[in-house]
Amino acid sequence: MSAELTKFLSWDNLHSFVKGSLPVLLEEAFANRDHVTSTASALVENLNLEFLGSPSVENKEILSARLDLLFLEQGLAHRGIRLSDKAFGVIGDVVTMSDRPPGLTYEDLIFSNPRDAIRVFTSGQLAVEEKLFYEGHMQIEDNFGTMIDILYHLRQQLSDKDNDTPEYPELNEVATLLTENMESMAAFYNIIQPESFAVFSRFHERHPYREGAKGAGGQFSASLPLVDILLMGDQTPVEIRNYWSRTMNYMPKNGAILLQEVITYIDNAGGKGLGELLPNSNQIRRIDSLLRGLRARHYRAVSTHIPEIAINPGITTAGEPTNQFLKTRIKLDHSDR
Ligand code: HEM
Repeated sequence: MSAELTKFLSWDNLHSFVKGSLPVLLEEAFANRDHVTSTASALVENLNLEFLGSPSVENKEILSARLDLLFLEQGLAHRGIRLSDKAFGVIGDVVTMSDRPPGLTYEDLIFSNPRDAIRVFTSGQLAVEEKLFYEGHMQIEDNFGTMIDILYHLRQQLSDKDNDTPEYPELNEVATLLTENMESMAAFYNIIQPESFAVFSRFHERHPYREGAKGAGGQFSASLPLVDILLMGDQTPVEIRNYWSRTMNYMPKNGAILLQEVITYIDNAGGKGLGELLPNSNQIRRIDSLLRGLRARHYRAVSTHIPEIAINPGITTAGEPTNQFLKTRIKLDHSDR
């Protein structure tokens, strides 16, 4: 067999393993631990990393190849299985080569997960709900992407004065997309059972032994921060901007780059967000109210799926109890005050 062919076959084996065997193996909690460790380690040890190319060229195949590798390691690690040192080193090299945080990230799970063959950690009915969870996030992120384009474009068009146009049709589009996102958020607590969430979300937690890893949750999405800054500009509370600076390395790369660009743009353009540039705009007031509604539903999803946050909230990276942190965000004012 040619070296070239082996190179691709080994990645193919990894894809098939992650799509087919991994969820079942994770469920069986490893009566056959040694066998699983050696099979999974061999799959990784034989990979030819040339396939991943340079970090600046990231096509769909490369993203899903990296996702499979991280998925495999993350799943096994959360079941207490450690790959061989050689396989651990291979994955460490991939992380370094692609200049990304270690462990599975929100970007991997939602942006790199191929929509025509979504990777999941579970099987059976659990997998159906897990897949819905990822699809819900994908839909929400798609809508945010369009909203952010509209808001950034409008922010660049408006100057400090002469904003007397009574209505901007594109802001109605933002309101429609936010309404859709509220429906998707409600689907999380209406459709996904807390018992199912408890099983699959364990795999999204911080990698247990990769130093510097964080979880793969929506708190690392750059989208809500982008909407916040475009509307609130320099009226965004400083502790929230500091929080973004601390979490930016864990956000999806393109989102983090855009967030930095928009912050710089707004700071250089006098600091005003759309809320201040369009005072008395009913459209902005509506968007503000929808954003509060979206965050209120997000809070309901959090308290449905992680009910302990009401009793034993834990501390966020912002250094506050989680419930307090989330409730303060719901009250953010995006319109002119
Ligand atoms: C069942 C679904 C969800 C659950 C259980 C959940 C859970 C959480 C938790 C526990 C936090 C607190 C952060 C921390 O502890 O450090 C958080 C924050 C956050 N989540 Fe989610 N989340 C869900 C869906 C989403 C979705 C779909 C998005 C949007 C893409 C999202 C975006 C955020 C953001 C931006 C924050 C930071 C706080 C804020 O700006 O309001 N989450 N989430």
